[in-house]
Amino acid sequence: MARSYTVIGTGKLGSALSISLLKAGYEIVSLFNHHPEKAETLAGQMGTSVISGVWPESPGQLGEVVFICVPDDAIAETARRLSLFDLSGRFIVHTSGTLPASVLKPVEQQGAVTAAFHPLQTFNQNSDESVFREIYISVQGDETATEELSIWARALKARPVIISEEDKLRLHIAAVFASNYLVTLMEMAGDVMQDEELKRQLPIMFNPLLSQTVENLAKKGTGPSLTGPLSRGDITTITRHLNQLNENPELAESYRLLGRKTLPIVERNGNVDPELINRLRELLSQ
Ligand SMILES: NC(=O)c1ccc[n+]([C@@H]2O[C@H](COP(=O)([O-])OP(=O)(O)OC[C@H]3O[C@@H](n4cnc5c(N)ncnc54)[C@H](OP(=O)(O)O)[C@@H]3O)[C@@H](O)[C@H]2O)c1
Repeated sequence: MARSYTVIGTGKLGSALSISLLKAGYEIVSLFNHHPEKAETLAGQMGTSVISGVWPESPGQLGEVVFICVPDDAIAETARRLSLFDLSGRFIVHTSGTLPASVLKPVEQQGAVTAAFHPLQTFNQNSDESVFREIYISVQGDETATEELSIWARALKARPVIISEEDKLRLHIAAVFASNYLVTLMEMAGDVMQDEELKRQLPIMFNPLLSQTVENLAKKGTGPSLTGPLSRGDITTITRHLNQLNENPELAESYRLLGRKTLPIVERNGNVDPELINRLRELLSQ
């Protein structure tokens, strides 16, 4: 079992990971960042001796597991630079959600085994070890590496999920729909409002509603979590909404598309007469 680690790229995720792995009992060897001050400052916070700088001078300055936490576009180049070292017995790991472990291929020729280790979480400069607790971490790549990284994920009190390269990409797209586009939906909700103060307050006002929906989704899935006019087959309300939205054709189009995507859930729930569902589908297709 590997015990020591290096982090290359001491940004939001790299910093949180460096601190959290140390607290989980792993041994930090080194921190590197292309602006070295950042790595040095973080190394100073570790309370233990850590090599820091722009780039390792030799493979001896690397831990057994090397986490590459640079932006996605810089991962391949970082792997290419690492591949100038003999990396026998090392795990080289990146943290991108979209890219597969195979982007690290150059280091495999130098004896390393590779994996992608993607925490399904959002990190900021102040994130500490609590940010990993009970989250899911997708782990993809070489079998030995995914097994090893699963142990590291559990040490962070997270839940590892070993997935294939294709599922990794699909999972990332799914996360964009569920998380990033939730933000977009809030923006669109704001576009419905005219009163600037109400518009500004929407995320706060909707917080209890959203939190409850998210909780219901986690407990019961999509069907039982659906509420609102479509779930009741309330065609009068939907017609009034569409009439109001005539003032903004783009929003009306999005409302109709999302409505059409909601009807299969209503159908599955079986609480609305199929004939009414057909009329709703027609209304939402105009
Ligand atoms: N943040 C998240 O919520 C999150 C969640 C899951 C996965 N990830 C993944 O984690 C990785 C890092 O994301 P992040 O959000 O931590 O990014 P970040 O905060 O921007 O940190 C990136 C780090 O890489 C350095 N860097 C920037 N450009 C570089 C280059 N061309 N070559 C080498 N180093 C470079 C930056 O240094 P300087 O700041 O000094 O320029 C910074 O320390 C990405 O693969 C991302 O997809 C992030």
